[in-house]
Amino acid sequence: MDKPELYSRCAAPTFAAVNIRQLEELWPTLTWPDQPLPVLEVGCGPGDITAKFLAPRLPGGTKIVSCDISPEMLRYAEEHNGRPGVISYESFDAAEKDLEGTAVWKHGPYSKAFALLLLHWVPDNRCAIQNIYRLLAEGGEAVFTVVPYVSVFAAYEEMAEEPRWKIYMEDVRKFVSPYQHSPDPAAELRQLLEAAGFQVLHCWAGEVEVVFRSEQELKVSSFLFVAEFLVSVNPFLNRLPLGERDDFIDDILQRMYKLNGIIKEVDSSSGESKIIYFYTSMKALAKKL
Ligand SMILES: C[S@@+](CC[C@H](N)C(=O)[O-])C[C@H]1O[C@@H](n2cnc3c(N)ncnc32)[C@H](O)[C@@H]1O
Repeated sequence: MDKPELYSRCAAPTFAAVNIRQLEELWPTLTWPDQPLPVLEVGCGPGDITAKFLAPRLPGGTKIVSCDISPEMLRYAEEHNGRPGVISYESFDAAEKDLEGTAVWKHGPYSKAFALLLLHWVPDNRCAIQNIYRLLAEGGEAVFTVVPYVSVFAAYEEMAEEPRWKIYMEDVRKFVSPYQHSPDPAAELRQLLEAAGFQVLHCWAGEVEVVFRSEQELKVSSFLFVAEFLVSVNPFLNRLPLGERDDFIDDILQRMYKLNGIIKEVDSSSGESKIIYFYTSMKALAKKL
């Protein structure tokens, strides 16, 4: 992901709300060591959750190491969500094979690991989960939020078969959630966590919806807002000629309508429109014994 401004602006009122609600539900069950150990955040994106949610809630003196694979995200996070002496932002691939050679390893071990809206971006979940397990101190806990299924991924898969788009999407599998076709994503995640050595304290998957609200609230049409959100998370767009990009996003949106992944509703009295976006969400809390 390389569009931090757009992601920060468009994700905040939508996915972030679900993400934060899920974090708030799990937060009271977390346990904290007497001596503060650092906290790890993997896939921190623009750092909004790091600075605005995590940092204010951590026990005094706790340092946060937040990492991401995207240099653009890290640059934005440092510039807009820097907290010198509290948060250090590091470059890191969650599925790194040489874990002990990374800066993230050197700052550890960690009392907590947060991997929020990350695992659906990582094809090798087994390796990412094992890495997180190894980075934790004994008794450390890991919190995951994931999007196992969403219609936008189904749209990518369809479009990768289309003559017009296929040359830009040959590696589509890398950008579709590894749980997209799973009949039971929570059971799959639980199995991966247990295989890494975790005790699973909580693992849930279910349908959620986010509402892209009215034109008054967003100052742009809800349709345009959804399109901007899709741009902010789209891995293919930079490969397309400029003149093809609007059609590409429009094609995704039309397919999402057909798949019932989004619906438009118009309030009969006010005439106000909103777009409802459906997807499957998953959250897990696991402990290193
Ligand atoms: C949807 S954003 C989530 C950002 C933030 N955690 C949040 O909840 O708003 C996913 C982030 O994961 C990062 N990412 C994707 N693959 C990664 C990997 N293999 N290792 C580390 N970060 C990765 C992306 O660059 C992006 O910033």
